[in-house]
Amino acid sequence: MSDAALSYPLMERFSRAGQGQVFAFWDRLNEEERRALLEQATEINLKEVARLTSTLLGHEATSAVNLTDLEPAPYVARPESGGDAAAWARARAAGAEALQAGRVAAFTVAGGQGTRLGYDGPKGTFPVTPLKRKPLFQVFAEKIMAVGLHYGRPLHWFIMTSHANHAATEAFFAAHRCFGLDPARVHFFRQGRMPAVDFDGKILLESKGLIAMSPDGHGGSLRALHRSGALDLMKSEGVDTVSYFQVDNPLVRCVDPEFIGWHLLKGAEMSAKMILKAYPEEKIGHFCHQHGQLVVIEYSDLPLAVQREIDPATGRLRYGPGSIAIHILDRDFIARMAAESRDGATGPTLSFHRADKKIATIDAAGNPVRPSRPNGAKFEMFVFDALPFARNGLVVETRRADDFSPVKNAEGVDSPRTAREDQLRQYVRWLRSAGAPVPADASGLPAFDLEVAPRFGYDEATFAASWKKLTPPPAIAEGLYLE
Ligand code: UTP
Repeated sequence: MSDAALSYPLMERFSRAGQGQVFAFWDRLNEEERRALLEQATEINLKEVARLTSTLLGHEATSAVNLTDLEPAPYVARPESGGDAAAWARARAAGAEALQAGRVAAFTVAGGQGTRLGYDGPKGTFPVTPLKRKPLFQVFAEKIMAVGLHYGRPLHWFIMTSHANHAATEAFFAAHRCFGLDPARVHFFRQGRMPAVDFDGKILLESKGLIAMSPDGHGGSLRALHRSGALDLMKSEGVDTVSYFQVDNPLVRCVDPEFIGWHLLKGAEMSAKMILKAYPEEKIGHFCHQHGQLVVIEYSDLPLAVQREIDPATGRLRYGPGSIAIHILDRDFIARMAAESRDGATGPTLSFHRADKKIATIDAAGNPVRPSRPNGAKFEMFVFDALPFARNGLVVETRRADDFSPVKNAEGVDSPRTAREDQLRQYVRWLRSAGAPVPADASGLPAFDLEVAPRFGYDEATFAASWKKLTPPPAIAEGLYLE
């Protein structure tokens, strides 16, 4: 269909929905600009925007999250926290079996904007290891390869990008030859976008020919896995279990047999890894039970006084179980959740959240507006909102030091420095538990840089096995690289 033929009904629909301003500068656009604007406009579900405007922005809208009957969620405790060691061994064996059978795929959500880090480029290309300065994507690629070799079955790896970083991400992998992975097993797809609106629900233009659109949140990954055909590919490849992690966490065990095993043995449709919060104000979500359902309550939604409550029985934080955005999901559960919120749709869907932001836009005359205060809202879905819909939703404890040190901010907490130090501490722990003495300060940080490649060891056990084979063992000193 020609642009003209396509544009008329589309413009009509926008204007009937009270969104005619999107095409206000149509007559001043050239052919290419018109095509780009139409492409964006076709992506927009006007009914969804209208629904969100009335539910999240309208007079009736309330931002307050329902906190009634909230309790901390129960979880599977690690053996050192009193959990059943034999059950953990059974879980490990079940996870290993699933990996040997090729049932598991790795999945990274990498469509975020990374504004806090302020790095120019896809976050996965950010250099993060202490010695070799390997980028995040390489760290995951090497871990996924190591796990595949260990269990004798290479894994598929799905990577969700955004419109903004898709091409750069693919080019990065191509330039690095997929870091040694079989390119036929590395799959990229783009997540959906949502238009930003002003506080009256009017879709904002970024420029005369561009709608202000942004990624629809990590929760958009469920829809995007479906839409992109990734779920079909998984099915044809015999993959029924998806190991989900974020692009910003170099410590994550991308594919963890124990976690997978717990998920499978408990018949869960979605599982979540948890750590106990280090301090009440730590900015992670809280695993809670509410009206018989497993939910995550964000740190910003739980009053500080509640976050500070102490459980008298244990002397620890009552709302201690914290979410670190690592999940196992059943493929069929993703398909069920991916049902879009069409008219008449009856299936469960993720809700959108509203985030008020300063959105660069233009005024009625087309002049740029750079607001100093939030002038509108973006809509995002969160993946953990799928938990209440999951049969047997499960929370499994992990050790922070084995799984979580995200790079969120340029400096301070959760920054490149803290992630680098946590990787170094992990190498020290692995060396020490393999019997090698390493000088380190009281926090476990060595005085020099070293690095362990995932193919040498991606956890304590695989590290110890490789270390034992080194005769004589190398000197532990500045610049040691074990590969
Ligand atoms: P964050 O919540 O840290 O957001 O994402 P962000 O956009 O990366 O960073 P800021 O807030 O702008 O600084 C957590 C994870 O979810 C992914 C991110 O790529 C990261 O892996 N994500 C987030 C998406 O894939 N899509 C989104 O729309 C949002």
